[in-house]
Parts: sequence; C-alpha cells; structure tokens
Amino acid sequence: MKQTRVDGLIMITSKLPNVGTTIFTTMSGLAAETGAVNLSQGFPDFDGPQALRDAVCRHIAEGDNQYAPMIGVAALREQIAEKIARCYGRAVCAGAEITVTPGATQGIFCAVQAVVRQNDEVIVFDPCYDSYEPAVTLAGGRCVHVPLEAPSFSFDWDRLEAAITEKTRLVILNTPHNPSGALVSRDDLDRLAALLSGRDIYLISDEVYEHLVFDGQPHVSVLAHEALYPRAFVVSSFGKTYHVTGWKTGYVVAPPGLTAELRKVHQYVSFCGVTPLQYAFADFMAAHPEHLVELPAFYQGKRDLFCDLLTRSRFRFTPAAGTYFQMADYSAIRPDLDDVQMCEWLAREHGVAAIPISVFYESPPEHLRLVRFCFAKREDTLREAAGRLCAV
Ligand SMILES: Cc1ncc(COP(=O)(O)O)c(C=O)c1O
Repeated sequence: MKQTRVDGLIMITSKLPNVGTTIFTTMSGLAAETGAVNLSQGFPDFDGPQALRDAVCRHIAEGDNQYAPMIGVAALREQIAEKIARCYGRAVCAGAEITVTPGATQGIFCAVQAVVRQNDEVIVFDPCYDSYEPAVTLAGGRCVHVPLEAPSFSFDWDRLEAAITEKTRLVILNTPHNPSGALVSRDDLDRLAALLSGRDIYLISDEVYEHLVFDGQPHVSVLAHEALYPRAFVVSSFGKTYHVTGWKTGYVVAPPGLTAELRKVHQYVSFCGVTPLQYAFADFMAAHPEHLVELPAFYQGKRDLFCDLLTRSRFRFTPAAGTYFQMADYSAIRPDLDDVQMCEWLAREHGVAAIPISVFYESPPEHLRLVRFCFAKREDTLREAAGRLCAV
C-alpha cells in the first residue's frame, strides 16, 4: 500500500479507518467541560474494598514486582477455578484452562486473534460492546451484525440462522448485556448450541457482568453449558466485580486446546497481567468469598434507588435485569433529537452525561430514542443526577 504524506509528514493508511475517539471519551470530556454529573462511562465513583487495596500495597512492599507467570499467578487461577466450581458446577483445570489477562478487553482481543483468519465472518449482536469489531478487523475478518429485538433485546433466532454461512468462524455473545442489561436464558443457550452444532464455529462469551444479576435470577453462564463450553472462550473482569476498573485485570476460561492457542497470542500482546494485583485478588477472593454473594444486592439497591427516583421523570424504562447500566426512553421529552443530540443536550442544558445507544450499532434502528445511564455511583451522585433528570 502506498505511503501517504500530509504537509511532508509520513502518514499511515489506517487499518481501522472507521475508528475515531470513542463516545465514552467524548462524553466524559463533555461532563468535565460542563460540570455535568457523569453517568456516561461505566465505572464506579467509589473505591474497591479497603482490604483489597491494602493487599496490593502489601504485595508491592513485599517485593512481588517482577513478571508474573505468563498464564497468571497460580494462587489466583486456583481461586478462579474454585469460584467456577461453586457458581457454575464446572471443574476447570487451573493450569490448562484459565489465563489471567490485563483486562477482559485484552482477553477478547487475544481470543479473536487466535481464531479468526482472513475473510472469516464473525457474528455479533447489536447493540454490542465497541471493542469486538476492531479486533475482528485487525485479524482480517468481517463482523456480521445481527440486531437484538428491542425493547426486550432478545434474540431473533431466524436472523441468526440466516446470518450463518460457510465463512462464519466465531459468534460473540455478551450476557449480562451492555447496554441493555438483558440476560440470556438456558433456552437461549440451548438454541445457540443447536445452531452451532456440527459447525466449525467458536464462541466468545463476554460475561464481565456475571455477578451483577438482579431480582434473584441466576447468571446463565456458558461455563455451565455442556454443549457450548467445548467451543467457547468465557471472559470475565475483576474490574467490574471488585469496583476497580482501572486495574484492568480479567481472565479467559477455555478448554485446553483453545487455551493453548489463546496463550500463543497473549504472550506476545502483553505476556502477563500485573503481578501485585493478581496476588491481591487471590488473597481477597480467599478471605472474602462473601463479596460475590453480597454484590447482586449491593447493585440492585443502586438500581432500585435510581429507578425509584426516575419514576418522577418523563423518562420511560424497565429496570435493568443485570449490569450497572439503566437504559431509558426519552421519546416523551425530546422526540425531535436523535440520541447523540439528546446526550449533548442533556449534558449541556441539564447537567447529566449519558451514552447514546445508537453508537453500539452498525445500523441503528430508525427513531431509536434510548440513552444509557451508569448507576455504579454513590447515593449522593445518583440523587443529584436523578434530581436533574426529573427537572427535564
Ligand atoms: C461488555 C463489556 N465487555 C468487556 C469490557 C471490558 O472489561 P475490562 O475493563 O476488564 O477490559 C466492558 C467494559 O466496559 C464491557 O462493558
């Protein structure tokens, strides 16, 4: 490809021409500029557990500061294996099936690179998390976007079946689902398994919100599905579970043959995750198993507070079944604005930053009038934001 020059400077012909600054960066910037309450980007405005933060300091002081094993610190992989046995009834091998990665995003990227070849097709369900498509493009593949059915964001199985071709190599699933909060059911996984059966297709199951599931519902994990797990990479994130998104630590669970290929990529993308963080997570998981038990109620309390306050507004919504995001329909307020315009207007005129849902689509449905609020916030933040939203 010919090198281009602009004002004499050598430029790169982009491998990702459609990628610009993400909406998350834009909206957080707008929140900072306008002083809006920031319910846009998905991160808590409170800290992770004190004992976890203390454990990191302790491990740094004790000298756990050199490279971790490529596959992750053994004590942490053992804790993850125990948790998987407890939560999903699967006995995974901590040595051959679990890989600790610097964030779920890195794990997803490595799994995509391990599986997808030139001209392969990858099915993603819109609205979907924004890291999937660039990873597929860089691997030489192409995303085929199958929309979920609004307003429930459930699967249209006929559309999925119609999207599968000889070129399909991978399906990427996300449950609990960002941005809708929807959950897959056991039936959904059975339908998916039936469609993939006998085909040379892999599955990435992005389950970073696995512990944020409300109203007494279980998280239906691919780890608990006998037919799907043999072809799956299941991804999770400590950032979401322990309120420390900035620590960028996650893991990928996959059968040994798939894990071996994932690790070939992982060892040349980052080699390993951050050492003292891994020891700290291992200590904390061993000492505080109650954290996972208490987490759904903790976030359900925040969801309920935010939703109760928002019932006095003109936004319409169904409380999210999972994740720490609440979607809301604004068609009774400003139907004349598209969702990107609505988010700008909300931030500038009413002091609350949100995320438009259309950015999660390849081709957003016409007249989409939905925005996403993050409720992983302190009570005073949620009250302040809801007060402003009720005045809209
Ligand atoms: C669906 C989904 N997958 C993956 C991630 C990334 O997780 P991590 O911060 O561990 O890379 C996020 C974070 O927002 C997410 O919403």
